Amino acid sequence: MNKSIAQIVSIAPVIPVLVLEDIESALITGEALIEGGLPVLEITLRTPAALECIRVLSKLKGAVVGAGTVLSPEQLAAAIDAGASFAVSPGVTPRLIEAAVRARVPYLPGVATASEAMALTELGLTHFKFFPAEALGGTKHLASLASPLPHIRFCPTGGITKENAKNWLALSNVCCVGGSWVAPADAIRERDARRITSLAREAAALKRSASFG
Ligand code: 3PG
Repeated sequence: MNKSIAQIVSIAPVIPVLVLEDIESALITGEALIEGGLPVLEITLRTPAALECIRVLSKLKGAVVGAGTVLSPEQLAAAIDAGASFAVSPGVTPRLIEAAVRARVPYLPGVATASEAMALTELGLTHFKFFPAEALGGTKHLASLASPLPHIRFCPTGGITKENAKNWLALSNVCCVGGSWVAPADAIRERDARRITSLAREAAALKRSASFG
């Protein structure tokens, strides 16, 4: 059975945001992240190889592979066709949200304000990417939304690091965080599986707030 977005964001405290240039380094990176305890992978549609990487990595045992940087209904359709289990976008457009709701794909649209989150909850969505998290004012901004919007859960992304991730994960309305720090570009390029696994292991051990166990 397909997992809901609520189930997907509860699997691990960190979703690696991946920019992958070729299948070989993608496989090494994906396997290293899963080995380290981060099986939910967001492959951004920013490279010519992205869709093929989604296709190949989706077949890895235990992997839950989604498409990131989905900017249009056409990209959403292509990602689903490639086997993406979920989709993430930095923001939303009326066309994109309509396509995502119609496709019933687990979807993490990006929001930056209370109004954007409220508009999307009217369509039945409850989980959002909070983007760009650090630039929007950091944990203080998101903590302020917990009391007025108690039913909403966020995955802050953008500027999250090994150092600040635990502060975000301590918030009661944060289900997980997203970030590229667990698979840095140079480590992917150098196919440095050991470094990626070690970064993933550290990230997978991060604690979430009590509401997420
Ligand atoms: C992105 O879409 O690039 C993500 O927000 C990742 O941001 P980061 O590189 O700051 O983790």
